Amino acid sequence: MVAEPNTLYLPQFATVLQSEAMTATERYLSLSLDSGQSLGHKPGQFVQVSVLGIGEAPISVSSPPGEDPTFELVVRNVGNVSSAIHRLEAGSKIGFRGPFGNGFDLEPLQGKDLLFVCGGIGLVPTRSLIKHCLANRGDFGEVTIFFGCKSPGERLFLPELDEWRGRDDVNLLETIDRPHPDWSGHVGVITTLFPRIDIASPKDTVAIVVGPPVMYRFVIIECLNAGIDEENIMMSLERHMKCGVGKCGHCQINQKYVCLDGPVFTYAEARHLKEAI
Ligand SMILES: Cc1cc2nc3c(=O)[nH]c(=O)nc-3n(C[C@H](O)[C@H](O)[C@H](O)COP(=O)(O)OP(=O)(O)OC[C@H]3O[C@@H](n4cnc5c(N)ncnc54)[C@H](O)[C@@H]3O)c2cc1C
Ligand code: FES
Repeated sequence: MVAEPNTLYLPQFATVLQSEAMTATERYLSLSLDSGQSLGHKPGQFVQVSVLGIGEAPISVSSPPGEDPTFELVVRNVGNVSSAIHRLEAGSKIGFRGPFGNGFDLEPLQGKDLLFVCGGIGLVPTRSLIKHCLANRGDFGEVTIFFGCKSPGERLFLPELDEWRGRDDVNLLETIDRPHPDWSGHVGVITTLFPRIDIASPKDTVAIVVGPPVMYRFVIIECLNAGIDEENIMMSLERHMKCGVGKCGHCQINQKYVCLDGPVFTYAEARHLKEAI
């Protein structure tokens, strides 16, 4: 889905409906478009969020596609724009351009077993796709979700994790990196979850991998060892961005613009991009 020409360069406005701390560094925002129209995004797309007088930052849309004018973001407080977003309260106005990027190609997922591998804040864009797939559950085979964090305090969307864990058509496995007094579940980096599942039909399995840069290399090795095809490993890459629309070159890797050709790439595509992973 491509943004309308007038939303490529000119911000639209949205009103903050809800702004809530999720962790020490992440804040959840629910927004409503002032135009009354739906955002019209695909899972995996992002918006260029702007706070007037401060600047813009690319932020993934975390909610699934829908008809209504609301959408959800989760923002980690790391710098100028994100800290300004953290200060917004219900009723505040926010600018945004987009949605931008290719998003996840939904067609190759049809009828396939899905393995979501989400590291930390990587759950944010993936949640849009997970919720879309669960709303259309009959279109997919087995659904397995790995969610790994450094510590229990970094876990996101706790009520939804409980809901997914309670479903008999979803296999949710969580882990944290190191033992913690508040955690009685699995401990170890996210790749230590692979021996706990049986990928029965690797040729019919699509892995969706989103997390910190260090995670990709090791998770991809596990996916390939399990027999999942390179074309069926999808991942979302992060690069510093300015324009979001393929004009400034900030996000360029070789001949690809991550804002335009990505942020979602298959491993078959990304392995040819120097320093992509
Ligand atoms: C497609 C995409 C989706 C994203 N989705 C989310 C999301 O859902 N939630 C979320 O919290 N974040 C997301 N991000 C990351 C977010 O856009 C960045 O963290 C952004 O830099 C925050 O802006 P800021 O002004 O708050 O921080 P900045 O002031 O930009 O600082 C952030 C950090 O980046 C460094 N930095 C800034 N510019 C450069 C540069 N040009 N080169 C090297 N280092 C630099 C700074 O030194 C600092 O350490 C996404 C990024 C992309 C590309
Ligand atoms: S952010 Fe400008 S070209 Fe991608």
